[in-house]
Amino acid sequence: MLEQKNVKIQTIQADVAIPSQLASAIEQVKKPLYGVFHAAGVLDDGVLQQLTWERMAHVIAPKLAGAWNLHCLTQNQPLDCFVLFSSAAAMFGSPGQASHVAANTFLDALAHYRRSIGLPGLSINWGAWSEIGAAAQRRVDQHMQLRGVGSIAPQAGLRVLEKLLEQSAAQVGVMPIQWAQFLQQGIVSPFFSAFRQVATSTAQTASPSEILSQLRAANPVDRLTLLTTYLQTEVGKVLGLPADRLPKPHQGFFDLGMDSLMTVELKNRLETQLGLSLTATTIFEHSTICELAQHVAATLTPEGESVQSVESLALKGVESQLEQKSFSELRNLDGKQDLEKEGIETAIINELEELESLLKRH
Ligand SMILES: NC(=O)c1ccc[n+]([C@@H]2O[C@H](COP(=O)([O-])OP(=O)(O)OC[C@H]3O[C@@H](n4cnc5c(N)ncnc54)[C@H](OP(=O)(O)O)[C@@H]3O)[C@@H](O)[C@H]2O)c1
Repeated sequence: MLEQKNVKIQTIQADVAIPSQLASAIEQVKKPLYGVFHAAGVLDDGVLQQLTWERMAHVIAPKLAGAWNLHCLTQNQPLDCFVLFSSAAAMFGSPGQASHVAANTFLDALAHYRRSIGLPGLSINWGAWSEIGAAAQRRVDQHMQLRGVGSIAPQAGLRVLEKLLEQSAAQVGVMPIQWAQFLQQGIVSPFFSAFRQVATSTAQTASPSEILSQLRAANPVDRLTLLTTYLQTEVGKVLGLPADRLPKPHQGFFDLGMDSLMTVELKNRLETQLGLSLTATTIFEHSTICELAQHVAATLTPEGESVQSVESLALKGVESQLEQKSFSELRNLDGKQDLEKEGIETAIINELEELESLLKRH
């Protein structure tokens, strides 16, 4: 498209993190230089405990060393613009992306520094672009949608870029966000206080903890059932499952396909929505929806109400169902879906034999 407008495009390959390679590339470009766009980047996500310096350096080098080299090697050029492609991750934080956040934070700081010494500088904290680039390849946009963050269509992104080149701020964040939904994740940074005020004044945010009120009002047996259903929905969201496909309550989180980043996300969602403080290992220690529901139920049990054992809660649930159905009826019901529709614990459906023996023991 640009070539149709008689623009000559020259491609030179170089590692921007290596000063000699970059210097040689810049040497080959016709002078004077009027603009620099830094868009080099590498992703290597992982929880902090699993990061090695080699992995971090791999992510940091193209941005930190690359941008600094460009800054040093172009200072004698009459640049109109020096644009750095940073990320929304540097504004919001992003689980599993410590290196990426650090690298982009450097880009943001460099833009401010250049401005402070009278040089052009603009760092753009882009949200995820759709269709093209690393985020689209990793289907980040679908995952972000669950957090209230939309993606940027390429044509819209280019239009925004054009506008940003005409304005004077050194750093601009570009991301389509539903603030009320976004802030429900328990983001506490004062950076978002202005948005929080707007978000809390909208009707949408009036019931962030509706589930919490329901749980508090429920009796222990109903609470466990409610929690199980709620956790099925939340785990399904974290796994990116369609709304009509709920994960099985007795299946291990890791068998369901959850990775360590997803466990962090699940923990954060539960903490925000249920007003709980969970340890980093909670999801590992209670590694199925049933186990986690029992743990959360115990945590939410109001003062004065005795915390009943898992078995006795399950037993009560079974008994109340058995008051209405004989075992032979239960055995003859072939439709798992029928039972689910009636709100009967999925455990009863899948593990009738186990519960029979539980009843016998009591
Ligand atoms: N896509 C998004 O949604 C998004 C959102 C926020 C920020 N960003 C930022 O925008 C920039 C472009 O994103 P993208 O999605 O287009 O990324 P991409 O598809 O992964 O492309 C990154 C490019 O950087 C090059 N590169 C990596 N290390 C380099 C180095 N040391 N020297 C020279 N080139 C190097 C890669 O070259 P090779 O292929 O040869 O390795 C690749 O062509 C990145 O900085 C990214 O962090 C993107």
